Amino acid sequence: MAVKKEIEALHKDMTAWRRHVHQHPETAFEEEKTSDFVAEKLESFGIEVHRGLAGTGIVGTLKGKSDKNSRAIGLRADMDALHIHEQTNLPYASVGTGRHEGRMHACGHDGHTTMLLGAARYLAETRDFDGTIHFIFQPAEENEGGGRVMVEEGLFDKFPCESVYGLHNWPGRPVGTFAIRTGPMMSAYDIFEAKIIGKGSHAGMPHQGRDPVVCGAQIVTAWQTISSRSTNPYDAAVVSVTQFHGGDTWNVIPEEVVLRGTTRSFKPEVRDSIEASMERIARGICQGMGAELEFRYERRYPPTVNWEAETEVAAQAAAAVVGLDKVDRDPTPTMGAEDFAFMLEAKPGAYIWMGNGSDEGDRRLHSPHYDFNDEALPVGASYWATLAEQILGKAS
Ligand code: NI
Repeated sequence: MAVKKEIEALHKDMTAWRRHVHQHPETAFEEEKTSDFVAEKLESFGIEVHRGLAGTGIVGTLKGKSDKNSRAIGLRADMDALHIHEQTNLPYASVGTGRHEGRMHACGHDGHTTMLLGAARYLAETRDFDGTIHFIFQPAEENEGGGRVMVEEGLFDKFPCESVYGLHNWPGRPVGTFAIRTGPMMSAYDIFEAKIIGKGSHAGMPHQGRDPVVCGAQIVTAWQTISSRSTNPYDAAVVSVTQFHGGDTWNVIPEEVVLRGTTRSFKPEVRDSIEASMERIARGICQGMGAELEFRYERRYPPTVNWEAETEVAAQAAAAVVGLDKVDRDPTPTMGAEDFAFMLEAKPGAYIWMGNGSDEGDRRLHSPHYDFNDEALPVGASYWATLAEQILGKAS
């Protein structure tokens, strides 16, 4: 493996940074200490730091030794944690750390932040490239769309980039491997809420009411036909009801129930069809059973779609670090979602998965047993550095 030797020499430092960030997890738009930590590190490397985009977001700007082509690229990491109670029993776990309790870096954004910092330190020391690199550290990747907010607040107007790149660790793929494909990598992510308003009654005398529980149960089941009956079998669609709320006691049929959940898809026409079908089915069942429906559908993240030319560039950089045979060029896309999608809508670019090692022992993303694999730190940091040097070319 061709991990850069200067980056290998940073392995111990990067491990310490990663564990520090891990022990102090902060969630969406509250990444204040993390943001301070990143800004201090970038400044100590001699990188110009811009703060305030999307609140806690940071952009570090580094110019190479030459700027003949006036080219600039963006490299992006995410900084936020999740609302999960950590169960790893690691010495640097977030448990017992006051305000960090109940929060956890269970998606490896601590590792992502650290790898980009490691690459920034190496690139600031060597500066052997022609042009400008913007190191983008974004808040609120999970649920709240910090990447979208950065784009809306003028990320690429203030820091023009010809292309932008993202990376995510992937448990279940070995350390020292990458995976990337042109086209969709991650799905669109939407949410919905259906309030079914019936008529409450004595549970022993259901004929005196309009039972919203039975009505809701029919809707949950019928929605499952959207992927199996109304979507082309070659397309992907997921409708997951994750909440079913209603009632307070044994013997009373409640007045109303609330269903909530998420949908996933890749194609715009499938997304449109899911939204329309959900409402049509729910209204039809409610009407048939004499209940009222209030339906809300909210589009959250678009699909994460890699650009063709930039995917080739990213795959070449990965191959330069780990070898051609360790870069999977045809991974199956997943129905997870990623707000880097907003940056890929605004600029050409590519998003790559990096192996995080075994996922045994439930060490999967968003699990309370997950931990980013520190062995992968030099691999990811070398990928970033190689990518920047390959795109921008040597200083002249
Ligand atoms: Ni993540």
